[in-house]
Amino acid sequence: MKAKPFVKWVGGKTQLIDQLEALLPADFDQWENVTYIEPFVGGGAMLFYMLQTHPNITRAVINDINEDLTTCYRVVRDHPTELVASLQQIQAEYYAIHTEKDKRAYYMQRRAEFNLKNLDPVRNTTLFFFLNRTCFNGLYRVNKSGAFNVPFGRYETPTICDPTTIYADSELLQRVEIMTGDYQETLAMAHGRTLFYFDPPYRPLNATSSFNDYTKETFNDLAQTRLRDFCNRITEAGHHFMLSNSDCKDGFFDDLYLQYIIERVLASRSVNANPAKRGKLTELLVRNYAS
Ligand SMILES: C[S@@+](CC[C@H](N)C(=O)[O-])C[C@H]1O[C@@H](n2cnc3c(N)ncnc32)[C@H](O)[C@@H]1O
Repeated sequence: MKAKPFVKWVGGKTQLIDQLEALLPADFDQWENVTYIEPFVGGGAMLFYMLQTHPNITRAVINDINEDLTTCYRVVRDHPTELVASLQQIQAEYYAIHTEKDKRAYYMQRRAEFNLKNLDPVRNTTLFFFLNRTCFNGLYRVNKSGAFNVPFGRYETPTICDPTTIYADSELLQRVEIMTGDYQETLAMAHGRTLFYFDPPYRPLNATSSFNDYTKETFNDLAQTRLRDFCNRITEAGHHFMLSNSDCKDGFFDDLYLQYIIERVLASRSVNANPAKRGKLTELLVRNYAS
């Protein structure tokens, strides 16, 4: 499969895809003219997989609250050639710097430029890719005022420009509608046979372990409950959904999703600041249909 996530994103679903595929509705491939909706798209591992594997998806809708990220999706879809040229240039500039001190200084300048928030979409996306490849662990974190604040990652020659992926993703994204905002807006896009896949910011396993600060606002328990209520509305409207989350041992999700089917699946998390915690974990998969 040529098309795959063009950014490294915390919580990326690449490791879980086989298990997600196994839990799709049993007759999914017999559905006609499917609408596939991902309201928290992030890196889009599941999106790219689904579009390449299930040709009966004739329409897809993606959404994320992170405007810089959704701008990347639009630029990859609509301006791949310009983007590749621009990424090649920034990659050449970065490789031409030979000391770590100077690479760090270049990184800090590009980060400050990105935080000006007045760039055209291609430049904004170029810097988003650059920061994603050169910052510490590929994290995306913003401070209370929305400024990207991840430190320098000390990679000598990271791949900043990968034309094969960009062109393959661009082709696939031609049938994708891209929205920016709160996930609740996506319900209006459901039409005919519709499958939603939710991968929201995970609920922390304990007070300190997990990372879910993708945005200025933390996705707290109230937000998790609001998402469950949204799942109820989807179910009432006759649509199908799958939802991932962390396997909290306090029974929070078992209570919240009592009326649905909950499965535990094995996941290997690749982004964790603490190497000792990079191991196998179970995650939850909730759905509103028997597979
Ligand atoms: C766990 S990540 C998704 C991971 C992704 N599916 C992947 O495979 O890489 C959660 C995403 O939800 C987005 N987000 C947070 N709050 C949101 C909201 N209220 N509405 C829509 N998206 C939101 C974040 O910007 C982040 O990209």
